Amino acid sequence: MDWTELLQKIKRIFWKLSNALGLQWAPVDIPMERRLQTLAAAGWIFLVLFGEGFSIYLAIQLLYSQYWYLGILYAAWMLNDIDICHKGGRKFDWVRNWSWWRYYCDYFPMKLVKTTDLDPSRNYLFACFPHGVVSSGAFGAFATNAANFYQLFPGMTCNMITLGGHFLVPFFRDLVLALGACASSQESLLHLLNLKKYKGKCVALIVGGAAEALDSHPGKYKLTLSRRKGFIRVAMMAGSPLVPVFSFGEPDVFRPMSNPQDSLMRRFQEWVKRYTGISPLFPIGRGMFQYTFGVLPLRCPITTVVGAPMEVAKNLEPTPEEVDKVHEEFTWRLVTLFESEKAKYLKDHEKVKLDLI
Ligand SMILES: *[C@@H]1O[C@H](CO)[C@@H](O)[C@H](O)[C@H]1NC(C)=O
Repeated sequence: MDWTELLQKIKRIFWKLSNALGLQWAPVDIPMERRLQTLAAAGWIFLVLFGEGFSIYLAIQLLYSQYWYLGILYAAWMLNDIDICHKGGRKFDWVRNWSWWRYYCDYFPMKLVKTTDLDPSRNYLFACFPHGVVSSGAFGAFATNAANFYQLFPGMTCNMITLGGHFLVPFFRDLVLALGACASSQESLLHLLNLKKYKGKCVALIVGGAAEALDSHPGKYKLTLSRRKGFIRVAMMAGSPLVPVFSFGEPDVFRPMSNPQDSLMRRFQEWVKRYTGISPLFPIGRGMFQYTFGVLPLRCPITTVVGAPMEVAKNLEPTPEEVDKVHEEFTWRLVTLFESEKAKYLKDHEKVKLDLI
């Protein structure tokens, strides 16, 4: 038996095995551009899933190394700096401009779209939906410059809001801060919306948070909104216009395991969320070299549409009734934005309905 024959044989066995396992491999002749996109998406999901664990591991390694004093210095600096996530953060546009994020956005591909211009002399609260599994769309649009936020909204800047816990992780916090993220506390939101020097600031809050993440399934738009009143109160206290923002396609990039209400899986997820604030999801997308299984997001387009701002009268101590009234109007505007734009960005759009809980 010569070598080519052997190789052929191995190849045949390999394909038989792949078919038996239902594996679909990526073709070998993929252009470089697409390979880099896949690498960027892989790096990003690694960051999201393991970035914090890895950072803590690095910090411990540093403390036990011969450079332990650097670890101590860093810890002292971090403690001194711990509040910055509530006080406007520390954005580095250089980091937001990394080409990593450009390849990441082109992978899906991802687009940021406006329906109207915003006034750069005012601050806005962007209420973004849906959360999806890991908010891939909002990340690209508001935590990086890769979706061309600056070109789309001249004279304005944006900050993405995320869980305060991320700012307690050494090293990881520096990256998150550089991307312009701030904590989701009331203090932090009011600071960003109120300060005069921050005119033209868009504060992007993913209202549904971890609760909404549990309901993310391809093609489904189930939003956690009726119980969420905090962001309305903050907009009223700051007198900042509320902007409905919708990421079409966000639920399509992962196929999480089925978790109906009252299933064992769902109860486990709710339990972890109660203690950590994070929903444990097992994102099933694709792998680096095959399309069947893995944690890489799927190549599905995401379009983040920024709606028209809704004026909110300044009210430092809104009553629950006043909050409900604004909440009702905002809900109506969000639904209207979804219904009027969905035909452009969703396949089978007649069948896709918003489900508000
Ligand atoms: C980042 O990119 C924007 C354009 O998107 C540009 O205006 C800005 O100067 C860049 N900043 C840095 C620090 O590279």
